[in-house]
Amino acid sequence: MGYRKNIPTTVCLANMEGDNRLNSPSAVRNAEPIVELVRNTAIKSGNALEIASGTGQHVVKLAAALPLLNWQPSDVDKTRIKSIRCWSDDHHLINLKPPCLLDATKEGWAVDYHGQDLILLVNLLHLISFEETKILVKEVSKALSPKGLSIIYGPFMREGKLISKNDMEFHHSLINSDPDLGYKNDIDMLDLFREAGLVHLSTNKMPANNLAFITQKP
Ligand SMILES: C[S@@+](CC[C@H](N)C(=O)[O-])C[C@H]1O[C@@H](n2cnc3c(N)ncnc32)[C@H](O)[C@@H]1O
Repeated sequence: MGYRKNIPTTVCLANMEGDNRLNSPSAVRNAEPIVELVRNTAIKSGNALEIASGTGQHVVKLAAALPLLNWQPSDVDKTRIKSIRCWSDDHHLINLKPPCLLDATKEGWAVDYHGQDLILLVNLLHLISFEETKILVKEVSKALSPKGLSIIYGPFMREGKLISKNDMEFHHSLINSDPDLGYKNDIDMLDLFREAGLVHLSTNKMPANNLAFITQKP
């Protein structure tokens, strides 16, 4: 399944800036905490894949902050791929590869992306179904090298509960547009990691009620 067309337009808000470059205020807001999160993991060098890179504003900061990691940005959406290219072109980073088109919910993608030391995913799981999430986590596990880490960041329920008014409104706006979408439960995520053969290392509390799950391939 590709990018769902029926999600509310507010979930991926980004402004076009003339040259195919998208600017997302929320990506700018959470960039620093995400860079810090990645900087504090044990993975300092090797191959890093970002799934659903969006505008590309995170990956340019990550590649600049972690120069020994070779970053591969990706997204399912061609408009976002063009935007990632624009931001990348500005930064001239030798450890940043050209973006590639990747549907992370499609079974089998890991075959073409094996050998990753780090896989980062920010703000996608609430926009796909549980079945798609299951496929994505399995493919992440297959694409990781032994001892490789995955970081999955976003809004989640805590033991089945939505923890703020904003979270309730956002979750309900998603399921009203498509009942398959919406926040996933933190406990279900732990089950999905286990089923996929990933070891859960930590669940980090992040700004704006987000969580980041860090898991490792044995
Ligand atoms: C809310 S945006 C998050 C973008 C970026 N990670 C960030 O935090 O700024 C969701 C992104 O997921 C991408 N996306 C949606 N479905 C996808 C899929 N099946 N595989 C890969 N990317 C997908 C969208 O094109 C969009 O760029």
